[in-house]
Amino acid sequence: MTSVLNPPTRVGSVGAGRARVEGPDKVTGAARYTGEQPDLGDVAYLWPVPATIAKGRIESIADAEVLAMPGVLAILTPDNAPRLQPPGDAELALLQSHDVSYRGQFVAAVVAVSLETAREAAASLRIEYTEQPHDSELSWDHPRLYTPDKVNPAFETDTDDGGVDAALAGSDVQVDQRYETPGLHNNPMEPHASVAVWHGDELTVYDSNQGAFSAQQTLAALFDLEPSAVQVINHHVGGGFGSKGTIRAGAVLAVMAARTLDRPVRAVLTRHHMFTVVGYRTPTIQRVRLGADADGRLNAIVHDAVEQTSTVLEYAEQTTVATRIMYAAEHRRTTHRLAALDVPTPRWMRAPGECPGMYALESAMDELAIACDVDPVELRIRNEPDRDPESGDPFSSRNLVRCLREGAELFRWSDRDPRPAVRREGRWLIGTGVASSTYPAYASPATATARAERDGSFVVRIAATDLGTGARTVLTQIAADALQVDPDVVRVEIGDSAYGQAGLAGGSMGTASWGWAVTRAAEELRARLDSGDAVPVEGIEVAADTAAEIKARSGFAYHGFGAQFAEARVDLDTGEVRVPRLLGVFGVGRIMNSRTARSQLIGGMTMGLSMALHEEGVLDPSFGDYVNHDLAGYHIAASADVVDIEATWVDERDEHVNPLGVKGIGEIGIVGTAAAVANAVHHATGVRVRELPIRLDRLLGRLPDPRRS
Ligand code: MOS
Repeated sequence: MTSVLNPPTRVGSVGAGRARVEGPDKVTGAARYTGEQPDLGDVAYLWPVPATIAKGRIESIADAEVLAMPGVLAILTPDNAPRLQPPGDAELALLQSHDVSYRGQFVAAVVAVSLETAREAAASLRIEYTEQPHDSELSWDHPRLYTPDKVNPAFETDTDDGGVDAALAGSDVQVDQRYETPGLHNNPMEPHASVAVWHGDELTVYDSNQGAFSAQQTLAALFDLEPSAVQVINHHVGGGFGSKGTIRAGAVLAVMAARTLDRPVRAVLTRHHMFTVVGYRTPTIQRVRLGADADGRLNAIVHDAVEQTSTVLEYAEQTTVATRIMYAAEHRRTTHRLAALDVPTPRWMRAPGECPGMYALESAMDELAIACDVDPVELRIRNEPDRDPESGDPFSSRNLVRCLREGAELFRWSDRDPRPAVRREGRWLIGTGVASSTYPAYASPATATARAERDGSFVVRIAATDLGTGARTVLTQIAADALQVDPDVVRVEIGDSAYGQAGLAGGSMGTASWGWAVTRAAEELRARLDSGDAVPVEGIEVAADTAAEIKARSGFAYHGFGAQFAEARVDLDTGEVRVPRLLGVFGVGRIMNSRTARSQLIGGMTMGLSMALHEEGVLDPSFGDYVNHDLAGYHIAASADVVDIEATWVDERDEHVNPLGVKGIGEIGIVGTAAAVANAVHHATGVRVRELPIRLDRLLGRLPDPRRS
């Protein structure tokens, strides 16, 4: 008998602005984040001890007197910590050596019966070091710059067509400028948190990360366990931006301490710790050279980037790769140079590479527009390539021109007087700016299971992560459509490595990757049900794996595009910058959920606004560390900084990118925003700021005379 409870009802859930399925759980507190796991028994609390020197060696740790403090259970040091297998990620070799490679590196950890005791004890721990001279200052001509083999994740470091110098020299119009971006720090709402529980030789880790499966693999390798002996659970995660893409120091320390004490151990990093140990966006120094004819048609593009990494681990950010695909220019060169400094290791932060790189390129495009006296929207349209300039492959879809045109219309761009510093209302100078956005459309293999229950409901399982983005909700919609049922009868379970292989909530590829696997599993289950199989008591479960299908994808360049428009107002007397309007129009494939998509896009744009005006990690070279390591000293755009921000999209059908036609929206929103704001500030004031953030002191003294009417 076929199940009469599962009639195919095509409701077309995908695209609708469905509210987050776990929303009620989150607002009532029923959703448990890592640090809130109940019923784990006698949990002990871990507090890490950061190094107070930038480079050197630990000579001794006076742990005896701290160990005697009431409530202190253990002090982990390089002298007594469990030995780890050599990690692929050298940042995870916690307490395996006496060397100190950067200030703030965790060199010990205190475990106690309460958080307060652990904190007090950690502060009391005296460590003697031998200090060595350190170098933490990046510069354009740093003597130790080198060329990494690849840049993140596996791009060619340099590209060069060979004829670029002659092409530049022979161009009617040239732009040659240097742009700088500071270190920027990941500050998801939920700090990095881990709770480790051993059951004999089996390990369960609740961990706030962007991918339970890869966390499981990493922990198993470090602690020399079979992956099947490790379970990682991340049911709810409060943001990551890339900083939770790999497991972090706290997780390793918690697992070590739990082993040592044979007791569950919780480690939650403080905001202060996060500025050092979870990966920040590298500062960049970039030089962009453009050569064009008098009408602004590009003949040559050169984009060179200098960045930093640490001595622990090479992280080479792909700052100039977006430049390779953006505009038609016959001659192109892009390079990356790195200095390995005595600094914390930079890593991923929302749109690593594209974000700082496009700030420079899109600022330079604005400078070219002015040099050629061509409207900046028109300049970009004029340089639209008909295929990927680098690979020669066609784009699977590319709607940058449509985004620019529709954005210009919505933003009322045509009202604009192109002359800078001519629009003024009282003390405010007013201007508008535009910039392009782009981000690649990746996908990674995943397995999913779909199960029909006898009561007519469905359960879909995949080791996906919902960072607050709406992933769980979107997967529910995708599953419902593939099953041809109402989303209310589908329950999607995620956030558990036990559900099998799945990629990160990173690279803006969650929906493409997990949605692909969920679609295949659900389609197969639908076919089974349609073939007349009865649903037995134990239900019907099917699994799908997309590895082969994803590997077969080729022949196109897969990227999302967008256009961002900003209005800036600059106070003539104080240099204060306000951004009363921000508009983004994106061509990012099929939109699965209009509500959560808009939220992702405006979230990215808000972070881009924050980068343009506020965020700046200030490194003190004498300490070798970022000194403004809290939310008082490091300002992130708050509600009052954001006025009218809107994101929309063009209807884009992409049959090549993946079966769902999605391109990913988590990161593209931050790409280009800072340039749009900087370009608007230039239009408002006539002052070009080529160093982010656009602080008051970078404008003051350069603004027009306030008495001029
Ligand atoms: Mo994102 S930086 O790929 O998590």
